[in-house]
Amino acid sequence: MNPRFRFPDGFLWGAATSAYQIEGSPLADGAGPSIWQRFAHTPGMMANGDHGDVACDHYRRYRDDVRLMRALGLQSYRFSVNWARVLPQGTGRVNAQGLDFYSRLVDELLENGIAPNVTLFHWDLPAALDDRGGWLNRDSAHWFAEYAAIMFSALDDRVPQWTTLNEPWVVVDGGYLRGALAPGHRNLYEAPIAAHNLMRASGAGIQAYRAHGRHAIGVVFNIEPKYPASDSADDLAATRRADAYMNLQFADPALLGSYPPELREVYGEAWPDFPADDFRLTRQPVDFVGLNYYTRAVVRHDTDALPLRAAPVHQPHRTHTETGWEVYEQGLVDMLTGFRRRYGDIPLYITENGAAFYDPPVVEGEVLDDPLRTDYLRRHLEAAHRAIEAGVDLRGYYAWSLLDNLEWSLGYAKRFGLYHVDFATQRRTPKASAKLYARVIASHGEALGEA
Ligand code: BGC
Repeated sequence: MNPRFRFPDGFLWGAATSAYQIEGSPLADGAGPSIWQRFAHTPGMMANGDHGDVACDHYRRYRDDVRLMRALGLQSYRFSVNWARVLPQGTGRVNAQGLDFYSRLVDELLENGIAPNVTLFHWDLPAALDDRGGWLNRDSAHWFAEYAAIMFSALDDRVPQWTTLNEPWVVVDGGYLRGALAPGHRNLYEAPIAAHNLMRASGAGIQAYRAHGRHAIGVVFNIEPKYPASDSADDLAATRRADAYMNLQFADPALLGSYPPELREVYGEAWPDFPADDFRLTRQPVDFVGLNYYTRAVVRHDTDALPLRAAPVHQPHRTHTETGWEVYEQGLVDMLTGFRRRYGDIPLYITENGAAFYDPPVVEGEVLDDPLRTDYLRRHLEAAHRAIEAGVDLRGYYAWSLLDNLEWSLGYAKRFGLYHVDFATQRRTPKASAKLYARVIASHGEALGEA
């Protein structure tokens, strides 16, 4: 035990998941299809033909999973709501059975002393809304506010923490620009429109919260710090473009009410002029911001890497995860201190952090040894502690993820869980990283000092 790593009193320890990745039963009890249901059942979109029909079967096993959370000593659990369970058509008629699932989950968490942290949108847009243009339709902000208000009215009496969107950049880059994620579009003209409407929706959701809610609401960004490969003017400019595209495109309209000028360089003529009035909607006071951190990028100028004219430079001397991401814990410190410099002293949470490393599909024994993930977790928790020492108002940490789950179009082979899931039997087995995390939580960080 090392008191040097003790976290501030009240620091919240959690783990995160998302609906489509773990729930299964996507059409049960009157739920409508989401764009992920549709995408996963489109030939060629998913690695190994995987889909979320069963996933971790959490929809039926949530009580057992809450017990796993309790065994870790979690104080908070971050999960997302599948919008189409609650509103099968995206707007209009409420499906009481779908809403009831989340209500029962919330009660189960509270009975086990775990605070629910609810994300309203983690990528699974109702397919019916995609049919109306999805995030390209300016009405999406109103659709989202309608749905958000229903959730607040139903659960805010028991939910202390809400977030509007998870990682809008991934929706835009994967879903609208590169087509690797739902809804599978590849269109440079659509990307900035989808991005803008996502941030209008987030703002409209926060406005709805001020009318219906009495706890805290924020938004979650994935921030990937960008470092120039050299001091050349070209590399520096490429790094600024990459940062603007991935990071500032979302945080700036939400927190500053503007876009960085580099986005015009990224999009060229595909950059639309948005009505100035829209920023009154995007820029709403937030109670906190959640930041997801996985890796960094070292960036160089590259005229072939479009639209950014910026390419990542592989760092061969460092460890990489199964998703090819460099393990770079200093990036977590730089992300937090950099965010504070740009946006001021907003309470921050790390709402996701974790790593896919190879684990076998079937395990024997009571605990699965996962030395690389355990090392990743330890390094990043220590980095979080350094950021607090550097003055960042960091209020909590959520490990990604509670369970091995559907890693979107990469399927079930990429395992991020603290608990191993045998997808043939649904057996859960704690990994050594889960054991470390439980010790860290129980000691309020001091176990990080162990050899
Ligand atoms: C997402 C998760 C995802 C994780 C690992 C984040 O981008 O919020 O849904 O599984 O990173 O890729």
